[in-house]
Amino acid sequence: MEQPRAVILAAGEGTRMKSSLPKVLHMLCGRPLLWYVLESAKTVTAGQVLVIGHGAEQVRDYFGEGFTYVEQQQQLGTGHALQQVLPYLPGSGEVLVLCGDTPLLESAVLEQLISFHRQQGAAATVLTAPMNDPSGYGRIIRDQQGRVQKIVEELHLTPEQKMVQEINTGSYCFDLQALKSFLPSLPQNTIKGEYYLTELIPILADAGYKVEAYVIEDAQQALGINDRLQLAWAASRMREKINAALMRSGVTMIDPATTYLDMGVEIGRDTVIYPQTIMEGKTRVGQNCRLGPGLHLIDTIVGDEVTCRQAVVMESVLQDGANIGPYAYIRPGSTIEAGAKIGDFVEIKNSTIGRGSKVPHLSYVGDTQMGPGVNMGAGSIVVNFDGRHKHVTSIEEGAFIGCNSNLIAPLKVGKGAFIAAGSTVSRDVPPGSLAISRPKQDNKEGLGRRFLETKKEK
Ligand code: UD1
Ligand code: CA
Repeated sequence: MEQPRAVILAAGEGTRMKSSLPKVLHMLCGRPLLWYVLESAKTVTAGQVLVIGHGAEQVRDYFGEGFTYVEQQQQLGTGHALQQVLPYLPGSGEVLVLCGDTPLLESAVLEQLISFHRQQGAAATVLTAPMNDPSGYGRIIRDQQGRVQKIVEELHLTPEQKMVQEINTGSYCFDLQALKSFLPSLPQNTIKGEYYLTELIPILADAGYKVEAYVIEDAQQALGINDRLQLAWAASRMREKINAALMRSGVTMIDPATTYLDMGVEIGRDTVIYPQTIMEGKTRVGQNCRLGPGLHLIDTIVGDEVTCRQAVVMESVLQDGANIGPYAYIRPGSTIEAGAKIGDFVEIKNSTIGRGSKVPHLSYVGDTQMGPGVNMGAGSIVVNFDGRHKHVTSIEEGAFIGCNSNLIAPLKVGKGAFIAAGSTVSRDVPPGSLAISRPKQDNKEGLGRRFLETKKEK
């Protein structure tokens, strides 16, 4: 049988978010709310229509081609939103209608909804869920025989209806012929002035159509995000899912509760993640790494057998066997080649650190191409900025940079060159030579002792 179409309602402002960002673009584990709904819809439907309104441009920009966008100029309710789509839908078949703010709904449930709808030969099937705290949701009102009669929104509930715990998830399967005949005549709600999609249910039932409800077992999946508390709760559910999938695939997490991974982050087998680790965006990690504690990786590619702790790494590459931290900051455009070491209180920016090179303590390296086997002593600094322009530095294979030296860019330190500790170097150093650039030392006999003793008398 042909797959149904999908319509996703995503035009609302999301007043309760108190935000300038349209609700469906709020982020959950690195992806907007709407992304999750679309992903689930894509697996079970053929062709998705997005109803957009608030922040329409932003939504289009994010999701791009591949969907039909229909603009709802004024947000006059969920029924009004679906009315806008009618001209774009075929005359027969089925349509799955979803809200853009229910990111936890899985495609398996949508599939069950569709097949239940077909088995029952219904004109409309509502996806419902039992909720311990149903407040804020539309309630499913059934008649004596247990048939769905209507859906009543929170605002309009009688005290008796308030006790009903079966809620409307906002997802439905409709027969297109029935939808096309009755949706245009939806009444305007007298209190809110909106056209509620939920009002279609009693209309269809009264006209003698079969209206059904499919109850999902895992009620948590039905969560609709209306405010930031619900957003945070949904994010923690999503994290559990992401972490569980990775642990099943062979990743060890010392404390999954404090491991924060964006949707789509990849991690290889036998990698161990210590607590308080965050991985965002397009981060990809290889096998057998030891990452964390206290690590933040953003859009970073990590090879195999990398050790990286207490560090922030952005848009960079850490090759096999690199050893980073504790307390390192690696900024965009950097490559730490195989086996290289970046130690404590070191900042690297837009630089390549060659194979097996070491920058172990208290250094800044910016706009630098460093060859293999280089040793940067403690406190050595690349001076890449003259107050106006950034300049580049190259340090060739096997060079030794003494402690506390300043390399003033633009500069080239040749292969196997040696820079004496404490030097300020502003001219290129030829391969194999020694550069020393510091004042000569003067020792004054006895002056130290005298100095210390006069101090003691005070
Ligand atoms: C809606 C349902 C409620 C259900 C709940 C499930 C109605 C009247 N109520 O309530 O029964 O329990 O979802 O989460 O349908 N939207 C538009 N255009 C509009 C208004 C809304 O596109 O004019 C979109 C929103 O962007 C959102 C979705 O429809 O993605 C639901 O809207 P929302 O305002 O969140 O409805 P609820 O009050 O949660
Ligand atoms: Ca909602």
